[in-house]
Amino acid sequence: MSQIKIFDTTLRDGEQSPGVNLNQVEKLEIAKQLERLGVDRMEAGFPASSKGDFQAVKAIADTIKDTSVIGLARTTKQDVDIAWEALKGAASPSLHLFLATSPIHMTYKLKKTPEQVIDTAVSMVSYAKQKFSQVEWSAEDASRSDWNFLAQIIEQVIDAGATVINLPDTVGYTTPNEYGEMFRYMRENVPNIDKVQLSCHCHDDLGMAVANSIAAVENGVTQVEGTINGIGERAGNAALEEVALALKIRSDFYPYHTNLKLDEIKRTSDMIAKFTGMSVPGNKAVVGRNAFAHESGIHQDGVLKNTETYEIITPEMVGVKSNTLFLGKHSGRHAFKDKVKEFGYELSDEKLKEAFDAFKLLTDRKKEVTDDDIFTLLTDIQTDTAAASKYEMQMFQVQYGTANIPTATVSMKTPEGDIVQTACTGQGSVEALYKTLEALIAEEVNLIDYQISSVGGGKDALAESHVQLMVNGETVNGRGAAQDVVEASANAFINAVNRHVVQQTNLKKEVIRS
Ligand code: KIV
Ligand code: ZN
Repeated sequence: MSQIKIFDTTLRDGEQSPGVNLNQVEKLEIAKQLERLGVDRMEAGFPASSKGDFQAVKAIADTIKDTSVIGLARTTKQDVDIAWEALKGAASPSLHLFLATSPIHMTYKLKKTPEQVIDTAVSMVSYAKQKFSQVEWSAEDASRSDWNFLAQIIEQVIDAGATVINLPDTVGYTTPNEYGEMFRYMRENVPNIDKVQLSCHCHDDLGMAVANSIAAVENGVTQVEGTINGIGERAGNAALEEVALALKIRSDFYPYHTNLKLDEIKRTSDMIAKFTGMSVPGNKAVVGRNAFAHESGIHQDGVLKNTETYEIITPEMVGVKSNTLFLGKHSGRHAFKDKVKEFGYELSDEKLKEAFDAFKLLTDRKKEVTDDDIFTLLTDIQTDTAAASKYEMQMFQVQYGTANIPTATVSMKTPEGDIVQTACTGQGSVEALYKTLEALIAEEVNLIDYQISSVGGGKDALAESHVQLMVNGETVNGRGAAQDVVEASANAFINAVNRHVVQQTNLKKEVIRS
């Protein structure tokens, strides 16, 4: 069985999903989880795109040692130099250079002739090779490019030192047969093709990203690029958990394997969904809430007699555990610490104390504290913005019922340290609360999206809210959990505003420093 390398781009292409903006702590936690999942390469970001991205890529490159960390760059010396500064501390610094090769991109976007595109690609690959030992070159929009032209440019970038050639289906346009054929053509028509690894990168605009990736593998590709939960630009990228499971479950048909630790899939998926605010649809393959639920009587009967009647993947295989009670009122600090370790979090002593106190508070109010509850608490505490200057809610009160006008009163501390208080009414409890928060917050805030869900089941389940706000013209996401839905909603709103505040403070510090 030959090995297929998994190249994860959740932190780069996945982060390009509309409205997703991860902070550095979240990116680092995701990177550590991807390392535990066993991906072979992780694309940590696009260092030249912003200071924030640069710092996050650098932090990941300096921390992650068991997985190769790669950064994206356009074909300019400046991008390559910035990427090198971010990645030089990595165990094996790797660069991902891209340049479009389709007629439409070359004519309208790049305004370059095909000859100029070849020259740029070749000179930048050789420039990058002076610094990076591994250079992947991507022909952006390859699936809409002329195959003969692709063969020519690929041959020359290989001669210039590229180690991986990636042919993306950038706009999710291709079909399995066509995409597979394209790779077969390159293998047959590029004389030096055996010197490199071939990689596929598919978008899901027509719902074929996973099928296209597998077709590429069947035609000689040895690296699959994609994201966890399939998040990414527009309709997203190929979902890596689906690719890995398809190869595993149908190993009778596909003679390939990946190095992914399949039982880390669910935790990775949960973490990405929480941090990005992009919840996984219930019917999503492999990781959806209903992926292992059997509803109809005939199916239930079959599964009770023999699980294999309707179950081709077991929940355990992908790390889905039954949500059992694990710690309670009388559990001590030691057992809690072990659980933190099991989740893969490394909390500072201060954060550990904060998490333990929050856990104890929860055990007073909730009969059964589950793994999901603990994961939610830990996630919120570990990724909380540690900035001193931010909004902090002192207290809130919401009165509502069928016979009165919902009214919220909020008292909060501003980033400047003032205590402010006001009250507003609304059509419902959350609207009244959000209008009150808006009135107290100096920034101009507009709500774009609001979601509320329960963590696990039961009447006393934790509530988790995700919001997307426009704060002073910029889109930010926020997340908050609490036992009460209204409190969780308030936490998510304030979390989003604080992300903006912290971002602005960091930007100001950078301007002062430079
Ligand atoms: O989809 C795409 O073409 C990309 C490239 C940058 C590789 O993401
Ligand atoms: Zn892409």
